[in-house]
Amino acid sequence: MIEYLTLEMIDQTTDAVRSRIQAPPRVGLILGSGLGGLASAVEDAVSISVTELPNWPVSTVPGHVGRLVAGKLEGQTALVLQGRTHFYEGYSMAHITLPVRVMQRLGVEILIVTNAAGAVNPTFEPGELMLITDHLNLVGMAGHSPLRGPNLDELGPRFPDMSRAYDRELCALARQVAKEHRLVLREGVYACLAGPSFETPADLRFLRSIGVDAVGMSTVPEVTVARHGGIRVLGISGISNKANLDGDTITTHEEVLLAGEKITPQLITLIRGVLKRL
Ligand code: HPA
Repeated sequence: MIEYLTLEMIDQTTDAVRSRIQAPPRVGLILGSGLGGLASAVEDAVSISVTELPNWPVSTVPGHVGRLVAGKLEGQTALVLQGRTHFYEGYSMAHITLPVRVMQRLGVEILIVTNAAGAVNPTFEPGELMLITDHLNLVGMAGHSPLRGPNLDELGPRFPDMSRAYDRELCALARQVAKEHRLVLREGVYACLAGPSFETPADLRFLRSIGVDAVGMSTVPEVTVARHGGIRVLGISGISNKANLDGDTITTHEEVLLAGEKITPQLITLIRGVLKRL
């Protein structure tokens, strides 16, 4: 098990990606469960299977194909990760965030993270998008931060600020694009739990009481590393299911993937619109 990454490991993976792509990416995108459709919108695409990359934490989850697609999206050079790896698969927090470090070393300035999430806010409906305005790092608070371990000073400071994790200008752009295209764009706080079990009704009532709007099992570690590395972040959740606050409905992975089909076209419109305005 790789507990901490060294700069040598990060650069070994970065070099392997760099040798395959045509231009250094300005924008990095990470696509959530069932939201991989955006990868096929990339033009002049070079696709790399992550199994070919040294040190890569290869995902084991259905719906997470595991490829990097480099190319152009709305005129921006982009590197898209389809199929992230999750903490519950058994990798360390530092290891699952290697993709963000690789993006940082390749010169990415803006990271757009997406995920499938359960609605804790009772007014949110499956199929809607939520702009992440802040997050609750419950797993990090419990000790599993991707920044735990020796700080790599070349990559960022020991104690990074997280007061504006989600870039205000990028949030404003997303709101503007949603308005122009008449997309429903909810806003709220995303909480990352370790999973892989979904929440009990008591878990969900607790999350609601501490101000959570949507819950998932990803994103927060990636955003923490991106901010450590000075990358600006835009985060969008696709609401895939209603939270089961009363215990009357059950949540399944199939439901999450199915909702992705409804969410993907809206997500593509939103992200294309933001990229166009960068
Ligand atoms: N809980 C946690 N993670 C999720 C959910 C959920 O309800 N839906 C999609 N990812």
